[in-house]
Amino acid sequence: MEKTRTFIMVKPDGVHRGLVGDIVRRFEHRGFRLVEAKIMRVDRALAERHYSQHVGKPFFDELADYITSGSVFAMILEGDNAVAIARSMIGATNPAVATSGTIRGDYATSVEFNVIHGSDSPESVEREIGLFFGTQD
Ligand code: PPS
Repeated sequence: MEKTRTFIMVKPDGVHRGLVGDIVRRFEHRGFRLVEAKIMRVDRALAERHYSQHVGKPFFDELADYITSGSVFAMILEGDNAVAIARSMIGATNPAVATSGTIRGDYATSVEFNVIHGSDSPESVEREIGLFFGTQD
């Protein structure tokens, strides 16, 4: 099977709680290759571009305040069926229904502070890697 890439971001609560190492380990143990990674801050402009489809929704200001509140850990992962497998490892957006054994099911307690973001389609991967790493190589 052809290897594909996905974009993953450990959100500020995940970085603050020291979960980056465990999250990277989970992906590596599942067979993903870490292609590129960096710790960084997201400013309001990047938050609005990254979450452009949610601008104007009732939760957007809360989401933007949260994602700009501390460092995030952005990474590009490569593996078989990368988007779908990474999303299955991340678990449901709402931790109340996320299955134990998924990252959100094990670590998250609210839909606001849900630890991690993963691209939801190949088009999102391309767009989000461009936004965070400025390259798709
Ligand atoms: S939607 O409207 O169904 O498309 O939204 P959803 O897929 O559920 O969530 C999109 C992203 O917004 C985050 N989110 C929130 N953040 C803060 N506060 C509240 N109340 C909230 N509700 C949703 C959610 O975690 C998703 O973030 P990502 O990073 O894409 O997983």
